[in-house]
Order: sequence, then C-alpha cells, then structure tokens
Amino acid sequence: MGPRIGFIGTGHIATFHSKMLRRSGVEIDRGPCFDIDTTRAETFARASGAEVAGSAEEVVEGSDLVYITTWTSEHERLVDLCIAAERPFFCEKPLSTSFAGAERMTRRAIDSGLVHQCGLILRRSPAYLWARELIEDPAAGAVMAVVFRDDQFIPIQGHYNSSWRADIDKAGAGTLLEHSIHDVDMLRFLVGDIDSVSAHATYRHGIPGIDDSVASTISFANGAIGTLTTVWHDNLSRPSLRRVEIFCERRTVMLDGDDWFGPVRWSDADGTTGELAGEDLLERTTPLAAIHPNPDAAFVLAAGDGLGGHPDFSVALEAHRVVEAMYASSRSGGSPVDPAEVSP
Ligand SMILES: NC(=O)c1ccc[n+]([C@@H]2O[C@H](COP(=O)([O-])OP(=O)(O)OC[C@H]3O[C@@H](n4cnc5c(N)ncnc54)[C@H](O)[C@@H]3O)[C@@H](O)[C@H]2O)c1
Repeated sequence: MGPRIGFIGTGHIATFHSKMLRRSGVEIDRGPCFDIDTTRAETFARASGAEVAGSAEEVVEGSDLVYITTWTSEHERLVDLCIAAERPFFCEKPLSTSFAGAERMTRRAIDSGLVHQCGLILRRSPAYLWARELIEDPAAGAVMAVVFRDDQFIPIQGHYNSSWRADIDKAGAGTLLEHSIHDVDMLRFLVGDIDSVSAHATYRHGIPGIDDSVASTISFANGAIGTLTTVWHDNLSRPSLRRVEIFCERRTVMLDGDDWFGPVRWSDADGTTGELAGEDLLERTTPLAAIHPNPDAAFVLAAGDGLGGHPDFSVALEAHRVVEAMYASSRSGGSPVDPAEVSP
C-alpha cells in the first residue's frame, strides 16, 4: 500500500498530475478528491479511481498527501488546511495572486516543517536540465545574453477554456504571473540571480488587470543580460510555445521544441554542433533531476522519506519576487527595479 493521494481541484492540471502519478509507477493509493464543480470531480474520480469527497476538509482528512490544483486564489487557504492537519502538500504555481500572499505561504510552509513542493515542474524538464549542463560547462565560457520568448493563445478559449483566467481576483494577473512565472524561474535556473528588470505590459484584450503581452529586459548578478517576451494572443494554432537562446562566450544553446523532450541544440566556437532530444535526452539528464525525473514521483518519494520537496515554496517565492518587480517596473513606465527591493 502506498500513500493515499487526495486532490482539491480536479481540472486540467489535476488530471495531468494524476496521469503522471500513474505513469511513474510509484506505489500510491487513490485518496478522495473534491471540486466545487461536482461534474468535474466525478469525471476525475471515474478516470483515476478516486472517491468524490464532500469538501476540501474531507480530502485533507482522508489523504496522506494532498494536491492543491484549484485556481490560484484558493491556494493559500488550502495550504493552511494542509498545514493545520499536518499533511504534506503539492501546490500549483503561482502560489498566490499576490507577492504578499506568496511570501506568507512560504513562511508558513517552511515553519510547518512539512514536505511540500510547488508546480514549477520545468525544474525537472530534461531539456532545461541539459541546457543548464551545457551552460555550466567551463568550455562554454561565461553566459553573456539570453533571449526568452513564450507565446500561447489566451487560455480563456480553446481547450483550456478557463473563465477564471479572465478574473483578476482568481488569477491575480495575466500572462506574466499566470503563465510566465515558469519562464522567470527558468531564467533564474539557467542563468542565475536577477539584479534588475525593466518591463512594459499591454492589456490589448481589455480584461481588467489581465496583461496579455509583457516585454522585460533583465540584468543578472553574474553580468549577463537578457529579455523575456511573453504573449497571450488569439492564434489558436499556438497553444504554448517557448523559444530560448542562450549566448555564452564560446557556446550558443537553443531550445525551441518540446518543453520536456527538446530538441536542445548547441554550437561551439570550434565549429562543432550537437543536438539531443527524446529518450536520449531523458537518459542523459535523469541523474541530474533531484530525487526522480517525474515531478509527481519525486513528491511522493520525498514525502515518504521525509526529504525536502523540490522545488519548494522558497524557489517559487524568488520567481514571484522577480514577477512582482516586472509589474512594478511596467506600472512606472519601465524604470529599472531591483527584485531585492520589492516589498510584500
Ligand atoms: N504547472 C503548470 O504547468 C500549470 C499548468 C496549468 C495550470 N497550472 C496552475 O494550476 C491551477 C489550476 O489550473 P487548471 O488549468 O487546472 O484550471 P482548471 O480551471 O482546469 O481547474 C481548476 C479547478 O479548480 C476548481 N476549484 C476552484 N476553487 C475550488 C475550491 N475552493 N475547492 C475545490 N475546487 C475548486 C474549479 O472548479 C476547477 O475545476 C492554477 O493555479 C494554474 O495556474 C499550472
């Protein structure tokens, strides 16, 4: 018998985690699930073999480990429920609709001493793990610049079809917070700490508080510079696409395929080139992923062994801090903001 896994919120990302748990082969039992939309809870329960509970409290009570996969504004209250009942928890990104909320949640999660993990799953992506290896290789020289572009159709339509992403109270903000907090986290993962940002945002869809295009310039503590452009457009042929180019002194690294399986391509000063994708990429990077390459297996195993979950809320908080600095900069017309100086 494995730990009983409960789900609060049974939409798209809950289904993703449920499938990842099944595929991982780690031993688990299905705990209860709950969604304020009963039909969604029933569909999830049928597909996963879970029982539908009558409330979030019942899920926490009947589970050993809890997934919090509701829209963002509910995360804090549900994390508090898990902490009160001493249940390890996996909470989706963004942690909160605000930086202040993310800061409170991180403090409480750390103080609780409970194993916890956040949904910044690209930290285990074979493509990003391999890109980091290539960048950190001394043969590459220092990182000089990065160009990061992320675009998708605004996910209030198409297969996402989520009305909550057009509601500032539930989502907190638009493409930068709701989607590109992953990208900010990857910029920190690949290049390093961020010293200063300058950003401009647009709200072309006219949805109050929901930015749909943000362009930021970034200065890193190690002297590198870069840009992040994130767009929520209406081109339904582009559900979610990232392109990342990293320029080191003697190596250029490019990711422009699948977020997980690449390909990752590189070219060096001596004229050599390389490419890694799919199973080869997974095999090369499995030893680099903390605990397990599958994020959900890693959480279950970490909780079982009492190890720290990774990435935990402290990693998410640093991404929230940079996102907050970008919004602060855009509100001031693009003036530079040091993330260390934003206050909750
Ligand atoms: N890590 C990732 O790559 C990733 C990808 C997509 C979404 N997310 C995050 O996951 C969260 C959910 O996104 P989604 O795409 O699954 O949305 P979704 O709309 O598909 O599902 C959210 C579900 O939460 C339910 N819900 C809301 N409040 C609830 C409550 N108090 N109790 C129980 N159920 C409640 C809704 O009814 C809905 O079914 C968001 O925070 C989002 O940012 C993360």
